[in-house]
Amino acid sequence: MSDIITITNVVKKYGEKTALNGLNLTVREGELFGFLGPNGAGKTTTVRCVTSLTNFQEGTIIVDGHDAVKDQVEAKKVMGLIQQQISLDKDLTIRENMISHAMYHMMNKKDRDAKIKELSDYFDLGEYLDKPVDSLSGGWKKRAAIVCAALHSPKVLFLDEPTSGLDVNARRLLWDIIKLMNQKGTTIFLTTHYIEEAELLCDRVGIIDHGKIIALDTPAALCESVGKYAVEYMVDKNTKYKYFKDQDEAKQFASTLDVSNNVLLRRTNLEDVFVELTGTHVGV
Ligand SMILES: Nc1ncnc2c1ncn2[C@@H]1O[C@H](COP(=O)(O)OP(=O)(O)O)[C@@H](O)[C@H]1O
Ligand SMILES: [Mg+2]
Repeated sequence: MSDIITITNVVKKYGEKTALNGLNLTVREGELFGFLGPNGAGKTTTVRCVTSLTNFQEGTIIVDGHDAVKDQVEAKKVMGLIQQQISLDKDLTIRENMISHAMYHMMNKKDRDAKIKELSDYFDLGEYLDKPVDSLSGGWKKRAAIVCAALHSPKVLFLDEPTSGLDVNARRLLWDIIKLMNQKGTTIFLTTHYIEEAELLCDRVGIIDHGKIIALDTPAALCESVGKYAVEYMVDKNTKYKYFKDQDEAKQFASTLDVSNNVLLRRTNLEDVFVELTGTHVGV
């Protein structure tokens, strides 16, 4: 698999505040990449730097062979972005939003209409296509934003915390469309602070903290790096965690604890990885 995004030593400052502190990251073509980190870690700033929405002071970003600064026009053509705040015109229907997106990307009418039909069929938009965006539920609004962003057939689609604030059903609806988009061959760059989302959806996960990547691998390999088995137990009303590569060793340790310790032996998850690496919980 070749790399489609290469970020090298990127430093981004907002005045005195350093948001990205020498960020290094590569995303492979065709993967569903998860970018996980707590609030303020630098996820949105990374997406904004890669998609040329903001400048940065040091480093380079290459997207599909194009320099995101020097070759911005070409780089932008291969990217689609769904920002945290939906940028669709809420008074217009999904179809009308698609048409204005197509104009922005200078698509001709024939290609545009064919693509609208293809995407509506593929994602089962049917009756929703001609409804004003404002009349749709939160989940459908996000779906509409994804379909619009996909209109110019970007190779990479950036989704910045797409499921924040959505209920469970809306979140599932969105996961389906993200997976479908990826199966169609689009590389997905998904930022999230929901661990289960990264664990369930993503081929590889990068964890960012204080503007730096602190771990990057498949969810399973990240869990193995900490130890596949976790023993969770209480001491003086505080929850403690201990990790083991070997299940028997974990059982052996658990057997030394008392019932009053509320012992739980389970598989390690991404939250454990995060807590081990940073000492804080994701989302706080
Ligand atoms: N426009 C801005 N001006 C000043 N500081 C900013 C701005 N945008 C983000 N920051 C700061 O940069 C850091 C990274 O923010 P951000 O990339 O939005 O994080 P995340 O998306 O992971 O929550 C935070 O400390 C945030 O306060
Ligand atoms: Mg953000």
